[in-house]
Amino acid sequence: MVSTPLRWLSVVLFVAAAPGWAQAQRFHLPDPSYVYGPRFGPPLRDRNATELPKPPSADELRRDQALAALGRVLFYEPLLSRNGQRSCGSCHQQQHAFADPRRFSTGHTGRATERNSMSLVHLADLSPAPYQTRGVGFFWDGRAKTLEAAVLQPIQHPVEMGLPLELLPERLAMDPAYGALFLAAFGSDLVTAGRVGAALARFLRAIESRASRYDEGLAQVPHVVVDFPGFTAAENRGKRLFLGSVSGAPGACASCHMGSRPVTCGPSASVDATCFQTFELRNTGLEQRDQRAGATPGVAGNPQRTDRFRAPSLRNVEVTGPYMHDGRFQTLEEVVRFYARGVRPHRNLDAMLQGGGAGWRSGWGGSSDSDRDPHAMAELGLPMNRQQQADLVAFLRTLTDRELLRDPRFADPFRNGR
Ligand code: HEC
Ligand code: HEC
Repeated sequence: MVSTPLRWLSVVLFVAAAPGWAQAQRFHLPDPSYVYGPRFGPPLRDRNATELPKPPSADELRRDQALAALGRVLFYEPLLSRNGQRSCGSCHQQQHAFADPRRFSTGHTGRATERNSMSLVHLADLSPAPYQTRGVGFFWDGRAKTLEAAVLQPIQHPVEMGLPLELLPERLAMDPAYGALFLAAFGSDLVTAGRVGAALARFLRAIESRASRYDEGLAQVPHVVVDFPGFTAAENRGKRLFLGSVSGAPGACASCHMGSRPVTCGPSASVDATCFQTFELRNTGLEQRDQRAGATPGVAGNPQRTDRFRAPSLRNVEVTGPYMHDGRFQTLEEVVRFYARGVRPHRNLDAMLQGGGAGWRSGWGGSSDSDRDPHAMAELGLPMNRQQQADLVAFLRTLTDRELLRDPRFADPFRNGR
């Protein structure tokens, strides 16, 4: 462990050593600014709300855009880590849809993270209010209930960035360029953890993916279940398998990986064909380890939640590997083979994956809180032959959005980025 004064010295040296530090800005923002859309602020349009939200004023819109631009700089700012060695962008890399191509990421001191870094696309889908009561949220275990809270966790996390939030104001004071950015976003140059969280969250909410071959295909048909003209036969077959039902009712993969917006991502609501995630925590039978020590502790000590995880959006999944919370699968082929024949019994195993693929054939299969004896299950998972597995992988690859992976609005603005 390096003593505190030494650690401080290393940060000061790090900042001073940035090329052209005395003369030029460390980062570059375009003039005029990029436009971040399409949403203004958090998507709080509740289905039950009676009044439409008031349209924002021109001044609010300007501040909102400035907030996203500030968030972009902070996302790539190494000063947010204790020793200046890590930014959010180190582990959430744009060319990988903001995931990390390594199984585990390396934190600021060189230690590895415990879980695989998640893709940060379409986080705006998870609007805070309704999920607080349903006990799900951000991170693999759903522990953060709002994005504003989630983005402050990695900064303080001892492995990831290791910076106490009280130090944020002094840290950002090291670069005088922040004064104007905070002023534009908040009307004053005061730096607080809350403001840093708001800016990071706003930036992340802007990261949406809409230019994949899937989106092109969807735009050409009256309903998602219709074969897409631009798809190969294999991709269309894979799409049918993914949706799980010709009637378009959510089934199979879609029941856990396709939700509806903006509030209810789940099988009970009508499915939004563009939303490739749900937010419930589920057990997929990766591990049969009820009796063993070392299972992921249930959230808030609740055994019903043991080994349940949330899956990040499947958009761009082709480039976000390795896969699963522990990055155990290197390729999409391995993931799909797992669903076909690798699913193991677990007391929290989701109903969709129990008992000979009943849900696979008939759509949504019922409650996921079943207490049935897992060992009584004959055939678990979603049985598929090789051809079907290959078709599914072909379909998953149509979700890649190359534009997003190089969109300058989300790119590293630092001259000397890391
Ligand atoms: C050292 C690597 C590392 C750094 C640095 C890092 N993250 Fe992460 N991030 C991860 C890992 C690993 C996870 C999954 C952690 C878990 O679930 O416990 C994650 C998960 C997240 C999630 C949850 C996404 C979701 O879909 O639920 C958000 C949001 C996030 N990070 C934002 C950030 C922000 C903002 C920063 C910078 C302030 C940052 N991360 C810095 C590795 C990192
Ligand atoms: C019972 C709900 C459920 C079903 C059904 C399901 N999944 Fe998943 N999926 C999950 C969960 C939960 C995770 C994350 C699991 C973990 O990391 O422990 C996941 C992870 C994944 C991942 C890796 C995502 C990443 O970023 O690491 C892919 C790819 C995937 N699923 C594809 C599919 C396909 C294709 C199907 C249909 C054959 C399918 N899933 C069926 C719940 C489900």
